[in-house]
Amino acid sequence: MIKVLFVCLGNICRSPLAEAVFNQKVKEKGLKNEISSDSAGTANYHVGHAPDHRSVEVAAKHSIPIQHEGRQYQLQDASEFDYILAMDDQNFRDIIHISGDKPEGLFKMRDFDTVNKGDNVPDPYYGGRDGFDHVFEMLDRSSDKLLDFIIEKHNL
Ligand code: 4NP
Repeated sequence: MIKVLFVCLGNICRSPLAEAVFNQKVKEKGLKNEISSDSAGTANYHVGHAPDHRSVEVAAKHSIPIQHEGRQYQLQDASEFDYILAMDDQNFRDIIHISGDKPEGLFKMRDFDTVNKGDNVPDPYYGGRDGFDHVFEMLDRSSDKLLDFIIEKHNL
């Protein structure tokens, strides 16, 4: 099983949505038995919490099921996951800090975007609903390319 982890700060807005969007694409390609995904936050504020209702709404708008219980990124994740996708630069640095070293397979999510490649997926928590729509578009485009990358790399 190829294991993919999406990481943001709180694990209630961006990374659970990324996990849901990516999972849907994995399912559509018939790769559920080959690729699994999870998400985590670098902070512990929302451990045990469900995804933010605005992430749930944007997922529903695109008919994507979303289900996750907030958890904090931990040291063991660095070795357990083949690919770790940080939503922004701060997440990227915090992952390295918590892991003690840069995990193999650590990328920024938008390294896989076709628009403004390498930029951050901005934190939508304190903004309006349009911020969540914008985040969805980034995650949708980036997930397509991330999945293509994994399929090619592992000859799936
Ligand atoms: P996320 O958004 O990192 O995309 O889940 C946030 C959620 C909560 C907080 C910050 C960002 N917070 O400060 O509680």
